[in-house]
Amino acid sequence: MIHQTLIYLDGGDPEETRQAHELLKSKGLGGLDGQTTNPTLIAKNLSANDHRPTHEEAIAAYKKIVQEMRKIMDGPISIQVIGDPETMTAEEMLSQARERIQWISNAVIKFPCTHEGLKAVEEFCEEGPVNVTLVFSQEQAAAVYAVTRYRNYDCYISPFVGRFDDRGENGMDLVSNILQMYAQGDGHVKVLTASARTVKHIQYALWLKSPVITIPFKLLSAWEQEGFALPESDFFYHAEGLSDIPYEELSLDLDWREYNIHHDLTDIGLKKFWDDWRSVVA
Ligand code: E4P
Repeated sequence: MIHQTLIYLDGGDPEETRQAHELLKSKGLGGLDGQTTNPTLIAKNLSANDHRPTHEEAIAAYKKIVQEMRKIMDGPISIQVIGDPETMTAEEMLSQARERIQWISNAVIKFPCTHEGLKAVEEFCEEGPVNVTLVFSQEQAAAVYAVTRYRNYDCYISPFVGRFDDRGENGMDLVSNILQMYAQGDGHVKVLTASARTVKHIQYALWLKSPVITIPFKLLSAWEQEGFALPESDFFYHAEGLSDIPYEELSLDLDWREYNIHHDLTDIGLKKFWDDWRSVVA
């Protein structure tokens, strides 16, 4: 934990997990607090092999990868459900989740922020920890809050910063807006800042006291180059050239189905996860 924020690694390679954990420990920063994975990152790892795996072999490899990560550090590891976004049902996600939760003792199951994804979360949050991924709007975040109201386990939400920045919108506004909105609630959903691309993203997430941030290895190294610099109390985030995402007054008290959970970047992100997976899996 640095500055009240847990530090996770975003990756698909246990060797990076080992190096990141050792690096943070060697600097007196306590090591990694957890790990996130996704189909793109796992596919990248698998693409290093000559053999093109079948879907079953790739899933077995995914299991082995997170088991390796588990040996390196004790924190929660997010494991994603994978499938064709056009056809994947809540039932299929639930079946994958029930299997994957058994891979390691500290698994968190990652579901997409879609109608089918949240239907699965509604049921699964009573069975194990969940992380709702590909979040791009406050309404989605309100729906995640509502759908996990009767959870028995930890709940995380992953707003994607960099993908908003990529299209000229200030992704850190989304993190700030969700934290502000959740401050009215009971704190049961932890904001996990995802898709971080710059050291300034990290510093602003720390300044905002985002409960968790996930950082790719390359960015962690860039932060190390800056001496793991922390934000000063008067830190100001300059989102140069990016347009603001305004705060919306939303109630957290509705049924999750009453929120508009559609976002085009969620659809684009899910398609990319599936395309990246299929590009290496037979
Ligand atoms: C989060 O859990 C995701 O794996 C990740 O942060 C995505 O980041 P990207 O937008 O750089 O792919």
